This record gives sequence, structure tokens and C-alpha cells, in this order.
Amino acid sequence: EIENIHAREILDSRGNPTVEVDVWTCCGFGRAAVPSGASTGTHEALELRDGDDRYGGKGVLQAVKNVNDVIGPKLIESGITALEQRAVDNFMLALDGTSHKSNLGANAILGVSLGVAKAAADELAIPLYQYLGGVNTTTLPVPSLNVLNGGQHAGNDLAIQEFMILPKGASCFSEGLRMAAETYHALGKILRGRYGVGATNVGYEGGYAPPLNKTADALDSLMSALDATGYDKEIGIGMDAAASSFFENGSYAIDGKKLSGGEMVDFYADLVSTYPIILIEDPFEEEAFGDFAALTARLPGTIIVGDDIYVTNVQRLAKGIEMKATNALLLKLNQIGTVSEAFDAARMAFRNGFKVMASHRSAETEDSALADVTVALGAEMLKTGAPARSERNAKYNQLLRIEEALGSAASYARI
Ligand code: PGA
Ligand code: ZN
Repeated sequence: EIENIHAREILDSRGNPTVEVDVWTCCGFGRAAVPSGASTGTHEALELRDGDDRYGGKGVLQAVKNVNDVIGPKLIESGITALEQRAVDNFMLALDGTSHKSNLGANAILGVSLGVAKAAADELAIPLYQYLGGVNTTTLPVPSLNVLNGGQHAGNDLAIQEFMILPKGASCFSEGLRMAAETYHALGKILRGRYGVGATNVGYEGGYAPPLNKTADALDSLMSALDATGYDKEIGIGMDAAASSFFENGSYAIDGKKLSGGEMVDFYADLVSTYPIILIEDPFEEEAFGDFAALTARLPGTIIVGDDIYVTNVQRLAKGIEMKATNALLLKLNQIGTVSEAFDAARMAFRNGFKVMASHRSAETEDSALADVTVALGAEMLKTGAPARSERNAKYNQLLRIEEALGSAASYARI
């Protein structure tokens, strides 16, 4: 039985309020915090903000109240136990009654959903990844580390939001993380030498935010870092264009040009033939299913990931599968708002031969549950920023612990 649920307002890594929820059962406790995006997809579930004079309108006291006065009491009264995750999530969906959780707020609902999962794992005295994934859960994801920031995550003129490194050729997660951290520091040195000390200031996700405006300049710096560390065989490059954020009046404003969807397909194909790019996320704006499909067909060896286009929503994902718009799903818990629905999206993706990359948001907290969720899902990849800033490393460090706990049973995802 769930005995008590209590929410409070805390601060996220951007200094804005977010929801934290504590859940108590007879003999278990779970605490979950909710992240928040900056370049959010239009179709994401609703993040409830107060819009009053506190915190520039970003307070979440209404969402907190919705947990403390509505969801908590009613869930406890229902008698549903913490071990019934699907029933808990369905109960909240019915209580909210809207398609985008706009009544109670997805931030309120996710805090409870994840808090309940943690309390259940604690009650059973097993790790969260094992509770959510089962005893055969043994795959560690390839981390996708955002080492160079642009777009809406940085104060520079790079259109592309994220330049990531994926140590897919490492023998295990911990080795991959070490290679990535070494490359991050090599990149810092190169940027400092090339563009001055200000170039190592960082963006929202801990990646450097150099004063560049050309995609190729960012990629060239990254190549120099890989040359310096010698991990050019082991590490591939990924990019999240987050292209909705530079789509204006029907064209894409990038590298001082205005390109059509078709021209963008050529632009990405050129980059993939020049650099060791193995993954591209959100290459087009969030409604351009046709352009996504054209790029996925053009680059069969590249992982094309859908974030804002799908928003972890099975209806939008089903359309993407039907149209072969991408070959991978980006999974963000707070885009959809419950643990159960996120698992539904991942299962749909896997069933249809898609890869899954789990993801943080640009504003995070010290909550490391995303690492456990990623392992439980069996997701091939996890992106959670640079190997710097503790709200990012909280997740990478938790993966180190999970790999250690699994010992020889652990395997490293192949992508
Ligand atoms: P966000 O960015 O958390 O600011 O939405 C992350 C992403 O676009 O993947
Ligand atoms: Zn994205």
C-alpha cells in the first residue's frame, strides 16, 4: 500500500523550479525529480507552470498542490499498491482526463510515476533497473556525450544544438566514458588554443560553447580532439540539429544560408561523407515526416533519431514507423509523463526494428533514475550531456555503479 505522497518545489540545473516527489509505502521510499527542456517539442505533454510573479512565472506550486491535494490522496484512497506501476499510471491518466496531461500537469504526474517505481524497488530491496527491467537486464548503453553546444543551449551562433561523441568501439561502458572524458578535455584544449579562453565556457548541458557560426568549424575542432586522443577508431560523432529551432518561414537558417528541406538532405549527406558522423537527431522541423524519410533512405548506415517529431508519443511514433521517417526513437520521460507510457513507446520502437536512445533534458537535477530506466529498457544509447556538471554525471556515475554491480554479466550495447 502507498502510505504517503509528498511533493515540493526544488531548483533544477538552470536555476528554475521543478517538482520533486517523495513516496512512502509500508517499507519502501522513493524520491523522484522532474527535468525540463528548453528546445521543447510542440506536442509534448504539458509542463504546468504557475505564470505568476514568483521565479519569473516558472514556479510549480500548482503542480505541487496537484500532487499533495489531488493525486496523492486519491491514489492512496484507491488502494493501488506501488508494485502496480501500470495501474498507478492509468489511474493518473484517468484522473487527469486530457490527452496532454494539461489538467494536473505532466510534471506532477511524472514525479509520482517515477517516485512510485522507486518506492516499489526499495520495498523489494532490488535496484531500480532490475525492478523495471527484470532479472535479465544486463545491457549498458553507449553514452552519447554532448561536448559542444549550440542552438538554444548556448550563447553562440551555431545552428546545430548538440555535437556528441559516442564511444561505441569501447569494450565496456566505463572504458567508453573514460575515452569520452579524455576527448572532452582534449577538445577544451584545442578550443582554447584556436579561439581563446572564452571558447571553453559551457552551455546548458556542460558542453563547450565556442563563439562559432559554422557547422564545419565545430566538427573540425572535434576531429582535432579525436586526433589528439587517438580514439578516432572507437568514437563516432552524433549531432542533434533540433532543427525546429532554426526553421523560419519555410526554410532552415544555417551556416549563413537559408536551405529548403531538400537542400538540408544534401547538406547532411555531405557532412556524413566528410566526417565520421554515425547519428543525426531531429535533422528537420517536427512536422517534416517526408524530409525525415528522405534522409533515412539516403543514409541507410546512419542512425536517424526522432525527438521533437515523436515526443515519446506512440501515436506520433506509429506515423514515423509507417513512413520510415527515422530508424531510432529518442525517449524522454517528461515528454510523455509516465513510466508506463515511455516503456510503451520503447517497446513499439524495438518491435519495429528501431533503436532507442534515452535522454535527459537540458535542465536536469541530481536524480539519477534515468540511468536505471535506460538499462531497464535495454536502450542502445543514453544521451545525458557532457562528462561534466554533476546533474549530467549523476547519470553516467550511476551507470558505472550498475556496470560494477552486474560484473561479468554486464554487456555493452552494439550500435
Ligand atoms: P531540451 O533539449 O531538453 O532543451 O528540449 C534536448 C534535445 O533537444 O534533445
Ligand atoms: Zn533533441
